[in-house]
Amino acid sequence: MVNDTIESLPYERRPAALYEPIRYVLSLGGKRLRPVLMLMAYNMYRQDVQHVLMPAIAIETYHNFTLLHDDLMDRAEVRRGKPCVHKKWNDNAAILSGDNMLVLAFHRMLQCEDRYMPAVMRLFTETALEIDEGQQYDIDFENRSDVTEAEYIEMIRLKTSVLLACALKIGAILGGASPQDADALYEFGEKLGLAFQLQDDYLDVYGDFRTFGKQIGGDIMCNKKTYMLINAQLRANEQQIKELNRWLNAENPSRDEKVAAVTRLYDEIGVPRLVRDKINCYYQEAAQAISRLSLPREHTAILWDYAQSMLNRKS
Ligand code: IPE
Ligand code: IPE
Ligand code: MG
Ligand code: MG
Ligand code: MG
Repeated sequence: MVNDTIESLPYERRPAALYEPIRYVLSLGGKRLRPVLMLMAYNMYRQDVQHVLMPAIAIETYHNFTLLHDDLMDRAEVRRGKPCVHKKWNDNAAILSGDNMLVLAFHRMLQCEDRYMPAVMRLFTETALEIDEGQQYDIDFENRSDVTEAEYIEMIRLKTSVLLACALKIGAILGGASPQDADALYEFGEKLGLAFQLQDDYLDVYGDFRTFGKQIGGDIMCNKKTYMLINAQLRANEQQIKELNRWLNAENPSRDEKVAAVTRLYDEIGVPRLVRDKINCYYQEAAQAISRLSLPREHTAILWDYAQSMLNRKS
């Protein structure tokens, strides 16, 4: 339903060069996680989908805007198995079509029911500010060597979690849920989002390009201060830390060599297990947030099952 609605959106405005990259990125699919979460939250309280469809498209439009700019910032070349907008077109296309998508997202979100509009727009606006803040921390951390685990968690809460949380809470608001339920769903989204970004970082090292759709090792090449790198630094022995630092400080290293060497260090240090454990912790916290909802278990099961299915994702 989300995909059909996205496909049917008319792009009648001109110039075509501005709207073509937007149509391109939105047609490449992706998991549609945020609109699905919004629809699920809404459907726990209300059945008629017409009032949630446009806000759901709005949140997906916003998410895709962040990807256009993120790929430029992260020097990524491929997304969803296809060239990024700044590669297929150029940097200016990614900047301006991205800007346009950001505005389009607000334009689409405004098409929610009038009575809920102030609450929805306040939350959406605050979330968009937080995501920029998270993205700035992410970039700042590339050039720091003393990033703590707590700083990393707060950074991913801002750049990733709050959008999942916002999607769920908007679904709850539009569905007429109580403030308590809307807040519990927000918290559920925050915990799920932390687990989701940890897993994204894991797949960036251990995923398979064919399913993940992004070049493996992008985070290693950017010296992203992921949970894995921070913990590898903390747990490395003298010789391992020397080697790790050598790769972190290497100028123009070969991609294949750096990614292989850092991955081998992660393996030796036992980093994959630490990530798994951390993800499971956040799932437990997410489950606690769901259990606070006023709804009977059979109404929340679909959301929990969906969250569980994300645990095994390869894409
Ligand atoms: C990618 O999000 C950006 C992150 C927050 C990790 P998704 O993994 O949801 O990307 P798509 O939309 O499915 O491609
Ligand atoms: C995603 O972080 C955060 C946002 C896009 C806001 P990443 O940089 O890890 O996302 P991917 O891996 O490029 O999808
Ligand atoms: Mg990024
Ligand atoms: Mg990126
Ligand atoms: Mg990533």
